[in-house]
Amino acid sequence: MASNGKPAPKMVKLTINGQEIEVREGTNLVDAAEQLGIEVPHYCYHPGLSIPANCRICQCEVEGAPKLVFGCRTPAKDGMVVHTDSPKAKAAQQLVQEFLLCNHPLDCPICDKSGECTLQNYYMEYGQYQPVMIENKYKKHKATPIGPTIVLDTERCILCSRCVRFCDEVTGTSELGLFNRNNHTEIGVVPGQALDNPYSGNLVDICPVGALGDRDFRFKCRVWYLQHTESICPGCAKGCNITVDWQTRRRHIAGGARIMRLRPRFHEEVNGHWMCDDGRYGYGWHDENRVTACAVKTAGVQSEVLPREAFDAAVARFLAVDRQAWTVVVSTFLSNEELFLARTLFAEGLGVRVAVGPPPVGVEDALLRRADKSPNTAG
Ligand code: SF4
Ligand code: SF4
Ligand code: FES
Repeated sequence: MASNGKPAPKMVKLTINGQEIEVREGTNLVDAAEQLGIEVPHYCYHPGLSIPANCRICQCEVEGAPKLVFGCRTPAKDGMVVHTDSPKAKAAQQLVQEFLLCNHPLDCPICDKSGECTLQNYYMEYGQYQPVMIENKYKKHKATPIGPTIVLDTERCILCSRCVRFCDEVTGTSELGLFNRNNHTEIGVVPGQALDNPYSGNLVDICPVGALGDRDFRFKCRVWYLQHTESICPGCAKGCNITVDWQTRRRHIAGGARIMRLRPRFHEEVNGHWMCDDGRYGYGWHDENRVTACAVKTAGVQSEVLPREAFDAAVARFLAVDRQAWTVVVSTFLSNEELFLARTLFAEGLGVRVAVGPPPVGVEDALLRRADKSPNTAG
């Protein structure tokens, strides 16, 4: 029995690239290898979606198997001996990488994904470096806005179908599909529809290349300038785990704003791999209406003062009023630590009534969004 009261999962033992590992039964070879710190390249596989095994790059050699297997679709078995970097596996991975680049425009210098693009990253490890492609590249549609949040560049798309599966399986909105055949196959929006669902921003995260661009982040900041801080979304009571991507060294970017974008951070029990668009794009207020100067008004005349002087003046005026007549209303956006300080200072220190203001209310759904649009009503 596991510590959470559920039956302990069945484990299987296998060998990957000469290292033994024990994993839960049902774990695929990509994830099993990752637990050993071994990368098996994968484009179409995403742990939050179904597994079509259509990109073909995760091929591995399993001793005794008649041909290479797809690591994303092959469950680990007891006694399995796997090679992810044998000459045969490596050659197959390189050929797939080369194939995916046949029609790729290689416009990395103007692509927002550059620096965090899987196609770019895998090229370093699985590229052939001596390309065999001599045909002209097939041209497709570029920079097409397909909804309020997303711009589509079909030339960059490697047809992994992650985006189609996300709209089918996670949001259930099915706006996207693969159209035409062979070289002409393109991702597109179902005729008469727009890509407009409350979780559309996740498509940018799961697209392994720069085909699905974020209209909010487009051309805003190169990703290698970003710092990353783990945080919790304050957009509603769900408390999705997020990563804040920010920068302060280049003040000319985005009007001097610090936060460049928010991304979901995996938490199995809270938000899985996703976050909603309200939370994702609702960060602007952090950089708006900041206190940049302090002033005190005396006898109708306002004069600028240092923050400490303004604070002292506010305290003096507060202490001068009849405290019994006052109620301090605290916001449901305050953290537990701030609520504790408010209670210690006002209720216990000054004997003033402290009340909690009503939270803003909005749309709730079955996926993540909660009607309570503040993070800490429960305190
Ligand atoms: S747009 Fe991105 S996620 Fe969708 S199929 Fe193309 S590469 Fe995959
Ligand atoms: S559901 Fe949306 S608003 Fe609520 S915490 Fe998650 S990302 Fe933020
Ligand atoms: S990751 Fe396995 S086939 Fe795409």
